[in-house]
Amino acid sequence: MIGMVILAAGTGKRMGASGNKLFLPLAGQPVLSLTLRHAARALPGAPMMLVCRSGEEELARQAVVTAGLDEASVIITEGGPERQDSVRLALAAMPSTWDQVLIHDGARPILREELVQRLIGGLLQAPAVVPALPVTDTVKRVDGQGYILETVPRADLRRVQTPQAFEVSLLQQCHARAVTEGRAVTDDAALLEAYGERVLTVAGDPYNIKVTVPTDLPLADLYLKECGLCESD
Ligand code: CTP
Ligand code: MG
Repeated sequence: MIGMVILAAGTGKRMGASGNKLFLPLAGQPVLSLTLRHAARALPGAPMMLVCRSGEEELARQAVVTAGLDEASVIITEGGPERQDSVRLALAAMPSTWDQVLIHDGARPILREELVQRLIGGLLQAPAVVPALPVTDTVKRVDGQGYILETVPRADLRRVQTPQAFEVSLLQQCHARAVTEGRAVTDDAALLEAYGERVLTVAGDPYNIKVTVPTDLPLADLYLKECGLCESD
């Protein structure tokens, strides 16, 4: 069985709001409700785990209700101090019937079915699949004073998104090993890369932005409309 983990246990420091950015309003509802609704649509019938911060369980439950989801289909669990901890704790609490999983940022509300289909298709070929997009800006490496050291050739660079798709047992093994080695990463794919596992990229979705800084909110609002994800709600 394939399930989806939605990560919502961050604090949203870069957003600079007083609370967790995932409870800020976007198109009239919390960012997290939009993510949950679109995730449920993109992977119909699949079970979900929602990972939230201690003390925010009730807000998380409300977000599930606002999303119009059946509360029984969403397991709410507690995350940890870093994203990596939140994923590890979710993997530990995961029902044993899940053999494949999509790990998704709650902060990416514009999740569309075509992307999920590409990821699931990729799992036939590799145990880990990640959505990736080309880098369009010119990329420079700088020193501590802000002087440019070099221009980094961008042709083989990619920026990656979530959901990231995995065979559960392999992801669990990699997270367990990272704890014993004290290895810190910012996405799950980085653990598999570090341990020599093959990670396949598939085409990402340019609309699938992560709501990170204040200017991302009006952009997400516009993209929701562009993708027709508002009218049908
Ligand atoms: N996340 C999590 N547990 C953490 C940290 C992050 O579940 N300890 C989640 C966030 O809620 C978010 C996703 O991981 O949905 C991606 O993280 P990011 O965009 O960095 O969110 P925050 O960590 O909340 O933001 P910031 O880094 O600006 O504080
Ligand atoms: Mg963060």
